[in-house]
Amino acid sequence: MKKAIATVMVISLLSAGGVLAAEKDQTHQTMHKMKPGELKPDERIELKLPAPMKVMQKREMRQHLDTLAKITAALAASDLNRAAQVAKEELGWSEKWQQECKMGANMTGEADLLNLGMAMHLKADELADAARTGNRDKALAHLSELINNCNACHNKFRH
Ligand code: HEC
Repeated sequence: MKKAIATVMVISLLSAGGVLAAEKDQTHQTMHKMKPGELKPDERIELKLPAPMKVMQKREMRQHLDTLAKITAALAASDLNRAAQVAKEELGWSEKWQQECKMGANMTGEADLLNLGMAMHLKADELADAARTGNRDKALAHLSELINNCNACHNKFRH
């Protein structure tokens, strides 16, 4: 009986090893199938910010994404006033965002943090204006551009 249990254990250990080896092999194969460009290093500029600032910035970023979800939902429901209100109040260029974007640029010495940040917030104002005048198609086009504005910064900077 003991022998039988030991045999079962040995077999399961061996097969677990086999699974691991298979996974490793698959990763290896996948990497070989990748074109050289896909393994390029991350060449974006690293923002030298203190850890608590990074936590704060990322929290705000997740809020930005949440705001985009709210704007998209309002546009989908043709609730243009709500879309305008959310875009203006949560993302529109304001004293608060000006201060934050300036602080980020000053702390890192990267003027583009302010430029790209401001461009994104001003695009949210354009979206709000289009929605306010009842132009849903134009508001949607601005929403797409707004997302491109988000990524213009993500493509340049990283933590
Ligand atoms: C001026 C620069 C800038 C702009 C504009 C910007 N971001 Fe970011 N975002 C960053 C940086 C820097 C990070 C951190 C990236 C990293 O972790 O390396 C980030 C990270 C994020 C993350 C990941 C958060 C996490 O918890 O890891 C999300 C989501 C995000 N941004 C959403 C947005 C959205 C949505 C917009 C536009 C409405 C936006 N961002 C505009 C700079 C920007």
